[in-house]
Amino acid sequence: MKRIVILISGRGSNMARLLEASRQGELNDAAIVAVFSNRADAEGLRIAAQAGIPTGVVEHRAYSGREAFEQALASAIDAYAPDLVVLAGFMRILTEGFVRHYDGRLLNIHPSLLPVFPGLDTHRRALLEGVRLHGCTVHFVTPSLDHGPIIVQAAVPILDDDDEARLAARVLAEEHRIYPLAVRWFVEGRLTLVEGRVRVAGEQIEAALIAPALLREKP
Ligand code: GRF
Repeated sequence: MKRIVILISGRGSNMARLLEASRQGELNDAAIVAVFSNRADAEGLRIAAQAGIPTGVVEHRAYSGREAFEQALASAIDAYAPDLVVLAGFMRILTEGFVRHYDGRLLNIHPSLLPVFPGLDTHRRALLEGVRLHGCTVHFVTPSLDHGPIIVQAAVPILDDDDEARLAARVLAEEHRIYPLAVRWFVEGRLTLVEGRVRVAGEQIEAALIAPALLREKP
């Protein structure tokens, strides 16, 4: 049984989807053992508690600096002896020391087709740039922000009448598809890194290359 700890900062819809996937057996032999937030008011904490998952808050503002905060966070996480730590809308930049501590067992989801649009406001920036394809990425975390070996991406089209909210909703639906998929592959020990690229053992390439959802949106 692989043990998973999830870190959130807010709404927690990706976390909720992972909890549901776990309940439905989609994560194979894995258990979500704890959820931590750096904000006490994170909506996702309530959802996790209702699902009977142990939750905790490590408030970044309570610490003198990033490293002290991360030390406290890491000891809270490590008390659960996780095989995998999943960032799901966790809005703190992590130092190299923290990332190295979880080397190879720290995943993140980002709402763009990385390496384009790292950082914040990805949907607004995609609209401003006029790109036709946008999407989301699950990747292993490395010390550089929103950068690291890519496990799976899903692309969505940008439609003429899109605004930020419509686009964000279309991307979020894809996030909820690909995060459980990537976590399951990790749990099943199918991910390997070959020259900086992730290979998924026993999976057709199409599975990690999820194409535009346009057709599904048509009536
Ligand atoms: C998601 O768009 C995720 O990709 C990004 O932050 C957002 C978190 O949403 N890192 P939620 O808290 O999972 O609903």
